[in-house]
Amino acid sequence: MALDGKLLARSRERLAQIRADNELEQKRRQARAYAEIPRLREIDVRLRRLLGEVIGLTLRRDETAAATLDGIQAQSEALQREKAELLSAHGLPADCLDEIYSCPKCRDRGFGADGLPCSCLLELYRREQARELSSLLKLGADDFAQFDLNYYSAAVDPRYGMSPREAMSMVLSACRQYADDFGDGSRSLLLRGGTGLGKTFLSACIARQAASRGFSVVYETAVAAFEAFEISKFHRDGPGGDAAAEKCARILSCELMILDDLGTEMTTQFTQSALYTIVNTRLCDSRPTIISTNLSAEEISARYSAQIVSRIDGEYDTLLFLGRDVRAVKKELRYQ
Ligand SMILES: Nc1ncnc2c1ncn2[C@@H]1O[C@H](COP(=O)(O)OP(=O)(O)O)[C@@H](O)[C@H]1O
Ligand SMILES: [Mg+2]
Ligand SMILES: [Zn+2]
Repeated sequence: MALDGKLLARSRERLAQIRADNELEQKRRQARAYAEIPRLREIDVRLRRLLGEVIGLTLRRDETAAATLDGIQAQSEALQREKAELLSAHGLPADCLDEIYSCPKCRDRGFGADGLPCSCLLELYRREQARELSSLLKLGADDFAQFDLNYYSAAVDPRYGMSPREAMSMVLSACRQYADDFGDGSRSLLLRGGTGLGKTFLSACIARQAASRGFSVVYETAVAAFEAFEISKFHRDGPGGDAAAEKCARILSCELMILDDLGTEMTTQFTQSALYTIVNTRLCDSRPTIISTNLSAEEISARYSAQIVSRIDGEYDTLLFLGRDVRAVKKELRYQ
């Protein structure tokens, strides 16, 4: 799993916040305990002083050091004992003055002794990913379970020899399966069909599931993706130039790219070449892409270059969405 620098930095900030919160909580507990048992403060001051002496001794290393060290050890143990007895006499937990760690494994440092990210940091990272994704998609908590097949007609469409509901039931299963199996070797998908049939909905479900399993997922509308390519090519030094370049890099290198609403952009030489770059680069690197579009197969062929069309035809699995605009169907149902 390749970690994204920006998200990793944000996860580490969250971890730093957790450390700060824990420290504050520890200070509060300490202040309460000291107020209740003033002798505790004296003991802690003494213990800290002893620790300072130990450090001084180990640096000096003379003959008498060992004997002095034993004496310090004995004093320290006696103080610890007294502290424990005081706490228990006042009904306070033995560890109530200890440092607080949310993750005992790495003591909230985020990395293990082996230098690898700790599971707590990876969990924060996954949450950052999910947060970024939901902010991009603004789709609330939609998931596969909310996808309702009743919005699609059960009447057989003679053009396809099946009902929209049957077709969409297969599309739904295919998307679920794709999300469950997502990983190395996943293919690219073309979600094709009219407006309001659930293409954005289902691509968001796949995106969310893949992201929650730790894959890096980027969602962009085609318009926004091409705009980023344009800015990073022609206005690299202007405002937003760096952000656009970073977005382009993520579009090309993320583990799952969702390019939504292809065909709504104004097609130019430049958008053609940007699309080719995205499709071709990702295919060459075996990184799956999900493209959704309202265009028919003929419109795709007419609009995009032969190079692009042949890549998509040859390498993408097409899922055809059938039915009537779900938004319109929902409205009708509401007014019945
Ligand atoms: N099967 C479904 N069940 C429930 N809501 C749906 C379903 N399909 C689409 N919707 C809703 O209808 C609207 C249009 O769907 P959307 O995915 O944006 O369509 P498309 O991307 O194909 O144009 C969205 O608000 C979406 O949540
Ligand atoms: Mg859409
Ligand atoms: Zn940890």
